[in-house]
Amino acid sequence: MNNEIDWSKLPFGYLRTDYNVRCEYRDGKWGEIQVSSDENINLHMAATALHYGQEIFEGLKAFRGKDNKIRIFRLKDNARRMRESAEGLLMEPVPEDLFCEMCKKVVKLNERFVPPYGSGASLYIRPLEIGLTARVGVKPAEEFLFLILVTPVGPYFKTGFGCTNICIMRDYDRVAPKGTGRWKVGGNYAASLQAGEHAHELGYSAVLYLDPKEKKYLDECGPANFFAIKNGKYITPASDSILPSVTNKSLMQLARDMGIEVEQRHITVDELDDCTEAAACGTAAVASPVGEIHDLDTGKKYILAPDGKPGPVTTALYNRLNAIRLGEEEDIHGWNTIVE
Ligand code: PLP
Ligand code: COI
Repeated sequence: MNNEIDWSKLPFGYLRTDYNVRCEYRDGKWGEIQVSSDENINLHMAATALHYGQEIFEGLKAFRGKDNKIRIFRLKDNARRMRESAEGLLMEPVPEDLFCEMCKKVVKLNERFVPPYGSGASLYIRPLEIGLTARVGVKPAEEFLFLILVTPVGPYFKTGFGCTNICIMRDYDRVAPKGTGRWKVGGNYAASLQAGEHAHELGYSAVLYLDPKEKKYLDECGPANFFAIKNGKYITPASDSILPSVTNKSLMQLARDMGIEVEQRHITVDELDDCTEAAACGTAAVASPVGEIHDLDTGKKYILAPDGKPGPVTTALYNRLNAIRLGEEEDIHGWNTIVE
């Protein structure tokens, strides 16, 4: 265990760890797994990643459990989504077994950075793939680098599991209607920076994007999916332009397990009037409760938490999810991979 880190005060940021792992695709095949302590990568100045945005990534977490075992949450689901992202950008898909093997390896190598049980922190695993081939013409690369770094993190929003306010703005889109939103592509995040910074300047934690085609339905909430509780049901947007969140999928399952009906469908903005809870959900955000949603174009304010406190359904789902990830509750859906 690393004694220099104050685990309970960790922000969601980058902290150097001991190792990263890498694998290159050259001459039509993936090479050997390399272990590195170098924080830099050597890249050709004409690499497709730099010019034409051939970059995809993933985000998942490892937790130290009550029994001191290390668990990676929903490893295979992230491996699958990384493959889908690669297919979307005409990059070489990382075989799912290789993805899983390398994640387990990099966590094991950096075991001393997995935060202690009870600290509320976790080890964030960030796999990424980039196109290496030098090109000036707009064409996909033929060589790729797959790299995984890890870093211990605390909560994404400073309030932790406390309510924050978010806003709706119609002047920005992060993705196009049939664009790259369903894949985890670096460019989506570049396209979200202006809106995100604008929202932060106005005091909001994130932007609740509307669907980019009609601006009628709710889409995503910054770097997270969105759900709300309406008439006791868990409702979450169905859209071609949002990232299929592994956390959202997990919360939907937990809601069903708790006897809560789940609806994944188009949600109009004015339905927010009838919602009693809302939250942003994702690996980084977990389930971050929303207090108020301000529509900056109409001036309308939707109050989801009149007392400023997280609602009962969001709290129950959050606790259940954490209990499974920390080995406190039986993993009946087989979501955890134990790192031996
Ligand atoms: N949507 C976006 C845009 C994200 O960046 C993330 C984070 O990964 C999510 C949703 C949540 O996905 P997941 O729960 O798989 O982390
Ligand atoms: C995640 O939740 O893993 C994310 O990717 C969000 C983010 C920090 C980009």
